Order: sequence, then C-alpha cells, then structure tokens
Amino acid sequence: MSRATKNLFPLGVATGAAHCNRKAEREALKSNIQHGTHTWLWARRRMGKTSLIEQVLAELKRARPGVPSVTVDLNVVHDAESLEAKIRGAAAALGVALLPKKQNPHKLLAGAFADFRPEFSVGGPGLKMTLRAPAKPADGIAEVLLALDAAARQAARRAVFVLDEFQQLSGLYYGQADTTLEGAIRHAVERATHISYVFCGSHRSLLADLFENPDRPLYRHCQKMTLHRIAADDYAGFLQGAAKARWGRALAEPVTGAVLSLTHRHPYYVNALCAELWRLSKPPGMAELSATWQQLVAQDSARVAQAVRRLSATQRAMLRGIAVRDQVAQPTSREFLAWIRLSASTGNAAKRVLEEEDLIRQTDDQHWELVDPIMKEYIRVNA
Ligand SMILES: Nc1ncnc2c1ncn2[C@@H]1O[C@H](COP(=O)(O)OP(=O)(O)O)[C@@H](O)[C@H]1O
Ligand SMILES: [Mg+2]
Repeated sequence: MSRATKNLFPLGVATGAAHCNRKAEREALKSNIQHGTHTWLWARRRMGKTSLIEQVLAELKRARPGVPSVTVDLNVVHDAESLEAKIRGAAAALGVALLPKKQNPHKLLAGAFADFRPEFSVGGPGLKMTLRAPAKPADGIAEVLLALDAAARQAARRAVFVLDEFQQLSGLYYGQADTTLEGAIRHAVERATHISYVFCGSHRSLLADLFENPDRPLYRHCQKMTLHRIAADDYAGFLQGAAKARWGRALAEPVTGAVLSLTHRHPYYVNALCAELWRLSKPPGMAELSATWQQLVAQDSARVAQAVRRLSATQRAMLRGIAVRDQVAQPTSREFLAWIRLSASTGNAAKRVLEEEDLIRQTDDQHWELVDPIMKEYIRVNA
C-alpha cells in the first residue's frame, strides 16, 4: 500500500508507514535481541509497546541473517494449561521457522523436540509441527522452551520469543504455589543460548515485583526498558508527512501543536483524533480540530465517567483539582490541599493511589497531570 492510501493512524498496532520514530528504542531492542540479552519492556497501556515490538520483529525478519520470532499474548490465557498449550504451539511454530526452506527439517526438529513426540504435516502455509501435551504444565513449559533453544543452537540461528502482557502470569495459579510457572520460565530463560526473550506489559507494580524483587525467580535475568512518549518534534514531523501524503500540503503550525497538546502526545489519542481529521477533504483549521476533539470526548465520556466513579471521594477531589488546573507542581503542597479541601494525610494517600492506578503522571518538567487527556477534558467540562 502506498503511504497516501494506507491508514496512517490505526487504533490497533502501528507498524511500517504508521510507525512514528522510536528509533533509539528500536535500535536498543534490536541490539538486545541480536546479542541474546533478554528484555523486559514496561510502558503504560496504549503507549506503543506492542507496536514497537512488532516493528522490531518485522525489521529483524528482513535482516540478514533473518531473525524469526513468535509472540504469546498472555491476555488470552486463563490458566496454567492454556498458557502451556500456547507456549508449546508457539515453540513448534518457531522451531519450524528456524530452518531453511530447502533443508529437510524433520530430522533436526524430531531430535530436539523428541520428548514431545513431534508430528509433521504439510498444509497451506507449509510445514507444521504438532507437539504432544506434557504431563505437567509447568515442567512442560520449561522443557519445550529448552527444546526450542536446542533446535536453534543446532540450526546455528538466533530467534525471539515474546511474552506480551506478562503481568497476567501472576494471576495464573498452578497447584499449590503460583510461582511455579514463573520458575519454569526462568529455568528456560537462564539457560537459553540462542533464544532471546522479550517480556512486556503495562502493570508497573506487578511487573516490578516479577523482575525487580530479589526473591522472585526472574530477578536479574532481564534488562529493563521503559517506553516514554514520542518527542513533540518527531511527532510534528510525522504529522506533516502524513498531511502531505493526504492533502499534498502541510498543516498550519498551530494545528499540529494543538493536536499534540490536546492528546498529551498519547499515541492512542493522537491516532483516534487524526484518523477523524484525515477524513476531511482539506487540511483542518483550529475550528475543525476543536470540534473533532469535542466529539471524541463525548464518545468516550461513558468509559471515563465509569473510571472516575470507581474512585473514593478524596481521590476524586485530587483528580478533579489536578484536571482543572491542567498541571500541578506539588499535589501534596499545603496550598493545593487547602484548595481541594483535603488534609495532608488523606491528600497523600489519594495521590499515592492515583499514581499507582496510573491516573496521574509526572511530566518531564516535574509537573503532575492526568494520564488520560480525555479524562481531563471530561472533568474540566463537568467541573
Ligand atoms: N510509534 C508509534 N507511532 C504511531 N502510533 C503508535 C506508535 N506506537 C503506538 N501507536 C498507536 O498507539 C496505540 C497503542 O499502541 P499499542 O502498540 O497497542 O500499545 P500498547 O501495546 O502499549 O498497549 C495504537 O493506536 C497504535 O496505533
Ligand atoms: Mg499491547
């Protein structure tokens, strides 16, 4: 698809022409993968983790030598058995992808995965390997990942295994101890020589507990990477390129500036807003921009209202105060707390919860603001 016709502002994963910047992050992740350094990638929800990973995986697939990959999304598993089945299926697919087309892969794979009695079939997309379910899920996970590493070693190739939304692991109970699955994964990760792992997720405290707590098995096996907002200059350049592809000319400077400030450069909202704007037959001015943004706020208000309703009265008071002032240097200062009528102790507690729930964040210049630009707009309109 040409740049002029492709959807440059998807609400799902953004790759190729829709992927803005992330150059340093892409290089860092690629280098980790190529050097066998495992990575754990944290960012808030809808900040672009999956898009970054998919973009890097696509680039690695095209590299020479190509680096094949698989992804398991833990959002769609609900217990130890379903996790094991997903990982086994992914390991089988990656095993097949590791081998050059012309070579007969059966022998190498049959050897490496012997414990899983592999069966081979040839269908539409090519060779398929099916592995038999193990007796115990946790042991099976460790063994199948080690078998995959052995296959990669024999094929003398590197490959990537991605576990997306990894915080969901902590909700999967298995037998007596819920750390068994984590232990099984660690067992394979620390012995891997040819498989690079990428763990990714959005729940900061759960992930920090998995990767930064010395008592937990995955501690120290992975390098941490944090994804921040895309820089304003990079985003402005991207929007101008997209404007030229759509209308043959640039947007007025104040319009790009307003797109980035209304959305707080939150990539999901940039895309939601621009997808609408880019339907217009000519470049939008400030009036059209503001009308389109108000429409988005109205469409999303039910979701935001529900999130605000779930909070306690003191948390709501703090959230509302920060939203109304747009940005606040110190939400626990005497002046601000007096203004929202909270005591120091309830104010401190409320701030902690809002931060923990990722409803407020600190900007680069150390001011606090709402994470969700639509929530801010909703509160300001209704305050
Ligand atoms: N680098 C990027 N350039 C442009 N849009 C992006 C980029 N990264 C993410 N997005 C957009 O942001 C939204 C969330 O992206 P996603 O990768 O699903 O985030 P996450 O996995 O962190 O939840 C999507 O609408 C996606 O298209
Ligand atoms: Mg994601």
